[in-house]
Amino acid sequence: MSYNLLKGKKGIIFGALDENSIAWKTAERVHEEGGEFVLTNAPVALRMGQINALAEKTGSQIIPADATSMSDLENLVEKSMEILGGKIDFVLHSIGMSINVRKGNAYTDQNYDWTQKGTDISAMSFHKVMQTLYKKDAMSEWGSIVALTYMAAQRVFPDYNDMADNKAYLESIARSFGYFFGKDKKVRVNTISQSPTPTTAGSGVKGFDGFINYADKMSPLGNATALDCANYTVSMFSDLTKKVTLQNLFHDGGFSNVGVSNEVMEAFSK
Ligand code: NAI
Repeated sequence: MSYNLLKGKKGIIFGALDENSIAWKTAERVHEEGGEFVLTNAPVALRMGQINALAEKTGSQIIPADATSMSDLENLVEKSMEILGGKIDFVLHSIGMSINVRKGNAYTDQNYDWTQKGTDISAMSFHKVMQTLYKKDAMSEWGSIVALTYMAAQRVFPDYNDMADNKAYLESIARSFGYFFGKDKKVRVNTISQSPTPTTAGSGVKGFDGFINYADKMSPLGNATALDCANYTVSMFSDLTKKVTLQNLFHDGGFSNVGVSNEVMEAFSK
């Protein structure tokens, strides 16, 4: 169902890789709600070509940008304002990658070159995106910036590996930059802490099947899907959430406040 919540709003959506991506579902929902946007991803991801179908469906243009490259980000922000015909109302940062996870190195056996690269992609890129928008005065007043995160920033999930540290850094950047963006430009900045979701990035975590089922059994409402996350993000981009900022918003069916559920107890009571 569409409520036209984003009619007249313009934005940039990072991170739609394929139709499982949270950013993909978000782009579809934002389009349904009347928002216009530029899609962006790393050049290497664009080469897979799937994003063209999303661009066609949503009437969007694609601008390649490696989110660790300041020159790519500057080009992205300038071109987006040209294409959309003005300042930006919403930005989704939906980017994450750990090379240690991908190559199977344990948390206790990190290759620090990979760690640094992963931190740059998964966390520092959020600062780079916001600094570019801030310096170019590219955000409209009451604009909204959202990044996606995971609860491993607060609690231990051993196989989430160095991504846990990256998410803690990402959430801190949201608060720190959000202060300046709020004071100076009346722009809000938040992170959404999403349930485990079967995407390329999610499924890359060791033991993901156990992980997602456990979270589902622990959550009174069950796991939040990618579509649920897209809907929540739409509300965060809308004018209905104008005074929400500097928050890490759990979107997880209640998981983060549950000590144990009956279903999980049963599995241990035999
Ligand atoms: P995904 O694999 O579909 O999306 C990750 C995106 O990051 C891809 O589009 C990829 O091309 C992009 N990316 C990687 N390196 C980049 C770079 N240098 N520059 C620009 N983009 C780059 O997976 P998903 O799950 O949709 O991930 C989106 C966000 O949601 C990530 O921040 C992830 O950590 C977060 N998240 C995912 C959860 C899950 O279980 N899938 C749970 C909680 C948060």
